[in-house]
Amino acid sequence: MRKPPRSQTQCCAPAKCSIFLSGFSARKIDKHSTGGVGDKTSLVLAPLAAAAGLIVPMISGRGLGHTGGTLDKLEAIPGFNVNLPITEFRRVLRTCGCAMIGQTAEIAPADRKLYALRDVTGTVESPYLICASIMSKKLAEGIDGLVLDVKTGSGAFMKKEEDAAFLAELMVETGERMGKQVVALITDMDQPLGLLVGNSLEVAEVVDVLRGEGPNDLRELCLELAGWVLQLGDVTATVAQGRQMAAQLIRSGKALEKFGQMVALQGGDSSVIDDPRRLPQAGQKLDVLGSRAGFVTKIDCEAIGIACVILGGGREKKEDSVDPSVGLALHKKVGDSVTAGEPLCTIHYNSEARAARAKTLIEASYQIGDAPLPKRPLIHRVIGKSGDKN
Ligand code: URA
Repeated sequence: MRKPPRSQTQCCAPAKCSIFLSGFSARKIDKHSTGGVGDKTSLVLAPLAAAAGLIVPMISGRGLGHTGGTLDKLEAIPGFNVNLPITEFRRVLRTCGCAMIGQTAEIAPADRKLYALRDVTGTVESPYLICASIMSKKLAEGIDGLVLDVKTGSGAFMKKEEDAAFLAELMVETGERMGKQVVALITDMDQPLGLLVGNSLEVAEVVDVLRGEGPNDLRELCLELAGWVLQLGDVTATVAQGRQMAAQLIRSGKALEKFGQMVALQGGDSSVIDDPRRLPQAGQKLDVLGSRAGFVTKIDCEAIGIACVILGGGREKKEDSVDPSVGLALHKKVGDSVTAGEPLCTIHYNSEARAARAKTLIEASYQIGDAPLPKRPLIHRVIGKSGDKN
């Protein structure tokens, strides 16, 4: 893929973009992912960075293709309003330091329309449209710095690392030309992130991580991204110090408290934090069993994302509504040993027909071999000048 010449990618002058968040004295930093399966880090990162004193004016997206969307996850929390008018968005930011909304008729309106169109025109994976979609929202926020999580692997839009690097460079260059500090981490999406996939289930896993629990890969990626966010926000001098501070904000309970405050300010039922069973729950559960003994050598991550969409956790057609309660709880990930008949995954569902389709896909997505394969790294590389000093 070739990058267009500079003259074709120039957009409006930085000063013209976003005046709606002027007047905040703290640094405004955001984080955005190119999309994955079980990728719920934004819900951890926003309150964590706000607990460190930063302003996080996060404009997010819905599920796209087989990937989950931050807005759909937030809407699993009863009452949570992702459609705040600008005045309300500012009020939440002033009160708690972070707010999470979607594109509106006033902020990044073109992306709202393009998002739905891309899903039905086979253009979801275009790096230029991903760059335009993400950077239009992020630049509209008027942020000082941005940490991008560019996914690569079977569950990402960019299956190959070189395509992810191309997209990362495109977005970093766009942000830098607009006067922002931008860094992109290329991270692994060759299997789902964490153990839970589906909107309610993922909110519960976010709460686990904010409590200092949760699966290692998810916790580790959250800490690394938080390290970069805090360093770009000048809260710490290095990413390593940022990681330490993030871990401390989790240990002290301040990050979780911030999450609860944001949920309540955006109209959500914050009691789900103490009791995640108050999140919408699917009526039925079904285990998918290992066909033989051995080690999990591969999980087709896109197929897992599609299985969740089929259950109703995403949209097969753009007008579909999302069922927040359905999803998958993985018991086995790549490298784990399995015995014949042991559960690989539990399907949370509300429709027998949908569960049967999802089960067939999940069974085919797990490969079991005689020996474990070497693990892929979670962080593949870092792109952007802002990463040079670390
Ligand atoms: N997130 C977005 O906001 N847009 C994309 O195109 C992909 C991920």
